[in-house]
Amino acid sequence: MKTLITGATGQLGNLVVTHLLNHLPARDIAVSVRTPAKAADLAAKGIDVRHGNFDELALMTDAFKDVETALIISGEADNATRIAQHRIAVDAAKAAGVKHLVYTSIIDPRVDADFTYSAIHLDTENYIKESGLDYTLLRNSFYADLLLAGVPHALETGNFGAPAGDAKITYIPRNDLAEAAAAVLANPHAHTNKTYDLTGNAAVTHTEIASYIAAASGKQVTFVDLPAEVHLDILNSFGLPDHLIEALAGLYVGAKKGDYEKVSPDIAKLLGRPAQSVEAFIKNALAP
Ligand SMILES: NC(=O)c1ccc[n+]([C@@H]2O[C@H](COP(=O)([O-])OP(=O)(O)OC[C@H]3O[C@@H](n4cnc5c(N)ncnc54)[C@H](OP(=O)(O)O)[C@@H]3O)[C@@H](O)[C@H]2O)c1
Repeated sequence: MKTLITGATGQLGNLVVTHLLNHLPARDIAVSVRTPAKAADLAAKGIDVRHGNFDELALMTDAFKDVETALIISGEADNATRIAQHRIAVDAAKAAGVKHLVYTSIIDPRVDADFTYSAIHLDTENYIKESGLDYTLLRNSFYADLLLAGVPHALETGNFGAPAGDAKITYIPRNDLAEAAAAVLANPHAHTNKTYDLTGNAAVTHTEIASYIAAASGKQVTFVDLPAEVHLDILNSFGLPDHLIEALAGLYVGAKKGDYEKVSPDIAKLLGRPAQSVEAFIKNALAP
């Protein structure tokens, strides 16, 4: 019986596989990906690459065959589509005889959160619980990696902008979340029916983040508190889908209300060390 990871051609999934290889031999690991050709590097390592897509129940059920524990990595679509996709993934896992589902959720999933994707995660969490399978819910906070998108502009202009005000957010490196997921997959019985809040080791403001970018680059960088309309214009100029724009805008509305400022000790329990700080993450990312 294998341990399977969905979305392994994505950034988080690829990192989970890398960390899981420190715990399990490649022959015990399978991945389900939408485009198997993109996973040739994983196949070359001896990992069982399977074709899966949350849109297709039969395909997904085949992908989950002979799997004991599976990590379902949340996909990318509007709320109604993604809720249906995740339900298909759970149904497929159950039909295929998977024993334990691990899911990448979000901190404080709520139906009425300003961060609109939150409602998807609440639905999927509840659906997993109702499935009767063993489960582990990884409530991931926001990736520190997302902050890097603003760095080139900050270095060019000195302005690090976001509609964040004084909001404190427990950003955490994606790599730490991947390592935590791998630790759970390597020893699922120790995490049966547990829910973990996986936050950074501190909640930081965007003023502090600007100071980290300044220190790491040696340039003057200041936080600019963008009006919500300006932020929306910028997101629209990137041509992002409406549901993503709504979620990103809502993230900061919720963060300003304190939705994402609570630090949890759970990540240190899974990693055996604290998460890398945002300051160290940025210093590392900007190192020459
Ligand atoms: N906590 C945060 O800050 C944060 C930020 C961004 C996203 N997220 C969530 O966390 C997930 C993982 O993050 P990431 O950085 O790894 O994102 P990513 O690089 O965009 O990877 C997303 C993965 O989901 C897969 N996927 C999308 N739709 C699917 C479907 N219908 N069926 C099966 N797989 C599907 C993609 O498959 P392909 O490889 O075939 O494209 C990809 O592998 C995201 O999908 C999103 O739900 C969290």
